[in-house]
Amino acid sequence: MSNVQTLLDEGLAALAATADPVELENVKAKYLGKSGALTELLKQLGALPPEEKRSQGAVINQAKQAFEAALNGRREAIAAEKLNQQLAAEALDVTLPGRGNGSGGLHPVTLVKERIVALFQSMGFEVADGPEIEGDWHNFEALNTPKDHPARSMQDTFYVGGGKDGEPLVLRTHTSPIQVRYMENHKPPIKIVAPGRVYRVDSDATHSPMFHQMEGLWVAEGVSFADLKATLIDFLRRFFERDDLQVRFRPSFFPFTETSAEVDVLGERGWLEVGGCGMVHPNVLRNVGIDPEQFTGFAFGIGLDRFAMLYYGVNDLRLFFDNDLTFLGQFR
Ligand code: PHE
Repeated sequence: MSNVQTLLDEGLAALAATADPVELENVKAKYLGKSGALTELLKQLGALPPEEKRSQGAVINQAKQAFEAALNGRREAIAAEKLNQQLAAEALDVTLPGRGNGSGGLHPVTLVKERIVALFQSMGFEVADGPEIEGDWHNFEALNTPKDHPARSMQDTFYVGGGKDGEPLVLRTHTSPIQVRYMENHKPPIKIVAPGRVYRVDSDATHSPMFHQMEGLWVAEGVSFADLKATLIDFLRRFFERDDLQVRFRPSFFPFTETSAEVDVLGERGWLEVGGCGMVHPNVLRNVGIDPEQFTGFAFGIGLDRFAMLYYGVNDLRLFFDNDLTFLGQFR
């Protein structure tokens, strides 16, 4: 009798000491399992005389019920404790301000392109476009650059196969083919700018295999080199917001212009080249069916990435194409 009470007290103490479901199951097995202590006591009842069997049986069953009640109570307590711990660990501070949706912005080269295009639009230029995969004719031949012309080596071209008629296809090396395409389809007066991606086999801190140019073309009766200078100087002074900006036209060579020049601006660290320009070569006009005796024109090509670097003070071109949001986020 006292034997049963002692066993029950021990069992209840063991249950109270459990901290997790595994320990709880072990204690349960120790008392109620196949050869558990309480189970063993019940087994021994069979050997007792009927009178004792009844009274002792009642005592043991009571102990068993008390143990089971304590077991269930402990099981629920452990589960509740676990839930509380989980809730505390995963607590949300609902008073924290939300992160919100980061708003995007335009790429610095796009911002500069839009600024430049707007300046030229204010001078009466329209915006034209053309394909990035070009035929040899539009990228070179029509621009007075025949197959064996040494000027071709100035542009390290990506040849990308041949068209249906066997014409070599290239990733356009400059925006100048847009001049040709536009003149094939429009009669003078023509006054366009054409921004776009161009490609050359070239890669370092100031050259990227893909970069951006903007072409300008003005063809009409009586357009002169003076118009070219006035237009570019006016544009450059307005772009850099400096009326006293020094601009230099340095004699140069392009197959598709004659006279040709390189345009430099005077910066803090000396003269900086920002583009090429010149009077449209008579052969180019002839190639698109415009009479060079009646019409003259000028063309120019500027590097948009170069302008973005100067405008924002960025010293490595590659930063523009790394897609680093910390960098890009500064230009909104
Ligand atoms: N297409 C030339 C280049 O990419 C630039 C240029 C354009 C020069 C128009 C003259 C006239 O180097």
